[in-house]
Order: sequence, then C-alpha cells, then structure tokens
Amino acid sequence: MTAVRSSAALGAAVLAVGAIAGTAAANENAAAAAPTFNGEVGRILYENCASCHREGQVAPMSLTSYQEARPWARAIKTKVVSREMPPWFADPRFGKFKDVTALSQEDVDAVAAWADGGAPQGDGPAPELPEFAGDWLHERPPDYVVEMPIEVELPAQGEFDYLDVWMEFPFEDDVYLEAVQMRPGNPAVVHHAGIFTRPMPPGTRLGLEQVQPTAQLIPQPVPINPNEDPAVKLARREAAREFTPDAQLIFYRPGGGFNRFPEGTAKLVYAERNLEFQMHYSLTGRPETDRSVAGFWFARDTPRRRMLTVGSGEFGGTGPVRIVEGEEQLELQAGTGFTRTPNIPPHADDFRITGIWPIQDDITVYGVWPHMHFRGKDMTYIVVWPDGAEETLLHVPNYDFNWQIEYDFIEPLKVPAGSTLKTVGHFDNSIRNRYNPSPDREVYWGEQSWDEMFFIFTKYTIDKEDLTKRTSN
Ligand code: HEC
Repeated sequence: MTAVRSSAALGAAVLAVGAIAGTAAANENAAAAAPTFNGEVGRILYENCASCHREGQVAPMSLTSYQEARPWARAIKTKVVSREMPPWFADPRFGKFKDVTALSQEDVDAVAAWADGGAPQGDGPAPELPEFAGDWLHERPPDYVVEMPIEVELPAQGEFDYLDVWMEFPFEDDVYLEAVQMRPGNPAVVHHAGIFTRPMPPGTRLGLEQVQPTAQLIPQPVPINPNEDPAVKLARREAAREFTPDAQLIFYRPGGGFNRFPEGTAKLVYAERNLEFQMHYSLTGRPETDRSVAGFWFARDTPRRRMLTVGSGEFGGTGPVRIVEGEEQLELQAGTGFTRTPNIPPHADDFRITGIWPIQDDITVYGVWPHMHFRGKDMTYIVVWPDGAEETLLHVPNYDFNWQIEYDFIEPLKVPAGSTLKTVGHFDNSIRNRYNPSPDREVYWGEQSWDEMFFIFTKYTIDKEDLTKRTSN
C-alpha cells in the first residue's frame, strides 16, 4: 500500500451539459439526394467534432445540434475538405497509428455534399449525442487524484503563455503507474500541458505563493520576455537539464490527456522527485481561471519495464546525440538535456535541423509526438536500421503548433541496437509565416512559444530492463 503524504482536497468538477432541445423544420428545398443531418452528417459531426465543439470546450462554437451546426455549414465544408478539421497532420503514406482522428474520404464527401445541398436537416429522429469523456477514462476511478495547488488566474489578454507549477510528490515510496490522466480545470484555456516528475532545477525561484504546506508556485525561473538576454536564456536552459527520459508522466492537449501504458509497462515515479505541472495557456479575451487535475492509477503488479519518453531531436536518452545545423555539428552528452538548440537566423525561411539518436540498447517504440513552436514547418521521423536501410515512421508535412498531436503506433516498433532514430525538421522564420511574431529576431531554444523547440517525443521501453529484479531504492 502506498502511503499518502498529504491529501489534497479535490473539489468535484461538475460538468454542466445543457440539455439540447429543438425541432427545426427540415429544409424543404434540400436537394433530394443530399445527405441530411439526421441521416448521417449529424453522426459524423457528433463523433468527430463535438468532443471539442461543445459548450465549455476548446473550440469557438458548439456543434451539438442541427440548429448549432446549420449556420456553420459552409465553414464546416471548407475545414473538412482542406483536412484542417478534425486536426490530424500525419501524412497517411507513413506509419499506422491508433485513434486516427482524420475523417474517412466518405465522411468528407458526405459533409461536403450536405453543405452544397443546402445543409438539410432531413427526416426521422436526430442522431443521439455520444457520451463525452468529461471524466476519467480508465474503467476504474483513479487511485489518487492530485490537484494543482493553486488556481491560476489568467488575464483577458497579453503575453501569458507558459507557466510551471511545482509540488512535492505526494507519496513516500516510489510508485508504478499503469495509467495517468490529466484533466484541465478549464478546457477553454489549457492549450496543452505536461506533467513531469523531476527535481526542481537549481536557480528556480521558490515560494512565490505558499498555497499548501507542500506546494509552491513558480511562475517563471526568469521573467517572460521575448527579447530576453541570451545569457539569461542560456542559464535557464542549463537549469532545465534534469529532463531525463523518466521525467514525463503525461501530456495533455484537447482530445488527449490519457495514457494507459501497455501491459507489463508503467511509469516509475521516484518518491524524492517533485511534481511539475507545465501549463501552456491560451487567453480568451476574458479573465479566466484554471486549476487542472491529474489522476493516477497504480500498477497492480510490478511491471517489467519503465515507459520512458525522450525528446528525440534535441537530446537523447541512451546515447550521445548529434544535432546538425547546416554545416555545424554538435555533440551532446546523453541525458544532459537541453544544452544547445538551434539559433535560427533572422528571416531564414527553410532552416533545417537534424537530430540523431543512436540506439545503443534494443528498444521498443510505442508512440511519437512532434513538437516545435510558432516557426515549425515540417517534421520527419526516420529509423535507420543497422544495415543502413531507412524507413519513415512519421511525416508531418504541415506542422501546426496549435495542434500538439500524439501519434501512437498500432504495432509497437522494435528498434535494435545499432539503429539510429533521425529527426529532420524545418523552421520558417520569415515574414511569410503568419504565426511568426518577429522575423527579424534570431530564435533560441526556450519554453515560450515565441522561442523554439525541436523534438519528437518518443515513448519507448528498453527491452532488457526487468523491474521485477529491482531492489527498492
Ligand atoms: C481536438 C479539438 C477539435 C476537434 C476534434 C474539431 N475541432 Fe474544429 N476547431 C477546434 C478549435 C480549437 C478551433 C479554433 C481554432 C482553429 O480554427 O484552429 C476550431 C475551428 C473550427 C472551425 C472554424 C471556426 C471559425 O471560427 O471559422 C470549423 C468550421 C471547425 N472547427 C469545424 C470542425 C469540424 C466540422 C470538426 C469535425 C469534423 C472539427 N472542427 C473537429 C477544435 C476542434
């Protein structure tokens, strides 16, 4: 039994779902052949869109009834045909992924024909709204729920992007987690977030606000400033060194946030670590608050392997990583974290970086999550097998920072020692990139979205590991 050090009171998050009533007459003028809302389009929208497009969620409008969807018919067609909605960016030629959110061509055609045919409601009963996963996604309630120690107050507008909230880890012993879920307190503002367990980086300011005896809030190691002195930035980078492959517990983005680790694997969390909520917020134009929570499910048996996460690209877990920027080559030491990243020159419109991760032990790769910021353009993940043959695992031709999508393989991939995982990405720091806040700036590594990052987070296990033989620390 795991001893609980402090019991954080958790206010029940009540999800108010307004009852939807309404009967609009079917559009008499609808082309006879056009698909109808009640016929099939409603089902497509409810199953693929309404998880985000409903009251209190991240999307700007609700699509949970014919009346709500009807005025958006043209826009829906445009976004669906261009495949901007629902968000899914993997080139379908590579990789076989779980939970693909891309619509089938049939569904795209049906939605387009519906809009073109005057967006009729059709006869018969409206389709039923599915149950939404506002709750815990494991079949049993979490064994432990931890709430962010503070309620974050967000201004209506301005620069407020990234925030760290640190807590003491609530258990006295190391724990194995078979599943972790993060639930945003306020889904409208949590753009994406990560929960990490790691020692608090040296130089981090503590105790700005002492909310619980065991928890402190740290808004920023250094003030938010897009024109920050590079020396200060370097110091901050150094402070982030403790991002070892066992640090990341879970990553949240709209539509995500739940990980159940495959049979025989688990997250191992060391009792002496701190818990870090790393929050990326978007502002809504109104003052908002957020207090996100995480649910933990303890593994019933000692797993064999740790589920690890490495940011392949900038640094690697099991060996030295080389980052190649144009002509320049840099050696990074394993596990040292973010020691050096690209400085992208002003106005560069196609700046390439290649990250090399030589695989030194046989590993199994479960999923990948490409991560760049505003200037990210594209990313490709390639395995170079020991015989030199290359295979593309993931290709994201149009990287969009707004959508932090995780791609989990249907079949975990065995990558033997002697292989290399190669990440190739391009950045657009030119004025043509509509997200670029300052094309005439050199861009450094940093957590803020106006700085850059470059990795494909890779979820993997080390095949030879056997935790059942581990003597407790
Ligand atoms: C994972 C969450 C998510 C899913 C799933 C999703 N959307 Fe969206 N959608 C958003 C967000 C957030 C925005 C606003 C930001 C943007 O435009 O990128 C948006 C914007 C839109 C817009 C543009 C609205 C405007 O103001 O012009 C349309 C149209 C749209 N979505 C339709 C759909 C349809 C149709 C589906 C399903 C086939 C869908 N979306 C699925 C989150 C989602």
